[in-house]
Amino acid sequence: MTLGLATGSTPKGVYAELIKDHQENGTSYEKITTINLDEYIGLPPTDPNSYRHFMNSELFDHLDIQLENTHLPNGAAEDMSRECERYGQLIKDLVDIDLQLLGIGRNGHIGFNEPGTDFNSRTHVVHLAESTRKANARFFSSIEDVPAHALTMGIASILDSREIILLASGSAKAEAIRQLVNGEPDEQFPASALKLHPNVTIIADEEALSLVSQD
Ligand code: PGA
Repeated sequence: MTLGLATGSTPKGVYAELIKDHQENGTSYEKITTINLDEYIGLPPTDPNSYRHFMNSELFDHLDIQLENTHLPNGAAEDMSRECERYGQLIKDLVDIDLQLLGIGRNGHIGFNEPGTDFNSRTHVVHLAESTRKANARFFSSIEDVPAHALTMGIASILDSREIILLASGSAKAEAIRQLVNGEPDEQFPASALKLHPNVTIIADEEALSLVSQD
């Protein structure tokens, strides 16, 4: 089974629950493969702000998963277009993703697919939106330290997943969830691509859902 995983504050609670379940019930990840959405360009895997580091410390180090079966784009690769090819092909070789976990950015990004991303995109290099860098600056010593570029799985690959769960919590996500639920597919709001998928579940708290009924 292939799980598509996400980083950020949102999935941390899910990862804590998976670890608890593994420890208490012995649920095994020995035969699980994971593939992550994205990675900053320019941060080596050992950098505490790299998403590889996040995934190891928040999840993989606490499970019986084989690290070689856990995949993220390589933000330190020498040739980024080759790395995009490799990652896109890897997703295909895994015969797509069984279950993809997603967060959502305030601007509607999924992975690091910022507004304007082609719904047919595969793994690509993105220039991060200023609002995304500001939102993520909380993890860095200053906004200047937040990388300007990242590698992300494309929207077409996300839509190839068999099942998708999008998580959202807090009032900062309320407007994005309103647009997602009430809007039509529109490349200016990347998460709206999920409207084209037959099996998406949104799990959100009351604050994140607070604007949904207003349209
Ligand atoms: P967050 O990020 O979980 O840290 O809010 C989600 C996202 O930007 O996709």
